[in-house]
Amino acid sequence: MAVQKTLAIIKPDATARNITGKIISRIEEEEFTIKAMKRLHLTLADAQRFYAVHKERPFYKDLTAFMCSGPVVVLCLEREDAIAKWREVMGATNPANAAEGTLRKLHAVDLEKNSVHGSDAPETAAVETAFFFSGLEMA
Ligand code: CMP
Repeated sequence: MAVQKTLAIIKPDATARNITGKIISRIEEEEFTIKAMKRLHLTLADAQRFYAVHKERPFYKDLTAFMCSGPVVVLCLEREDAIAKWREVMGATNPANAAEGTLRKLHAVDLEKNSVHGSDAPETAAVETAFFFSGLEMA
């Protein structure tokens, strides 16, 4: 399996509860290399652009409002099979369905306030990492 990059976001529900460090520790324990990282407060327009793929979904308005309700930490992660591995570490989108020990099982509040985001495929990983970081920052 090839070495890949993926985008991780530590969402506002997690930064609000001061569990950023716990989540970053887990990222390092799982042997991801943090290629780039920053903490920022998205505007509504940023969140709408980032989640544009979901704009027809009923949860889009609430999701985008939530994502700009407080700071997020965005990370470009690298390791072998990074996209699938980060999704495995996060667990299912809905914490009610997440496996024991996954970040969402441990920390998520509900389906919307689910603490972390990860890219779902190589194409989205390329678009999502480039949304936040330049090539130079991820080198
Ligand atoms: P995320 O992996 O960031 O991708 C889209 C987000 O929309 C998802 O996590 C959830 O936080 C949120 N969301 C809210 N409602 C739903 C839903 N019914 N199905 C999928 N995602 C949802």
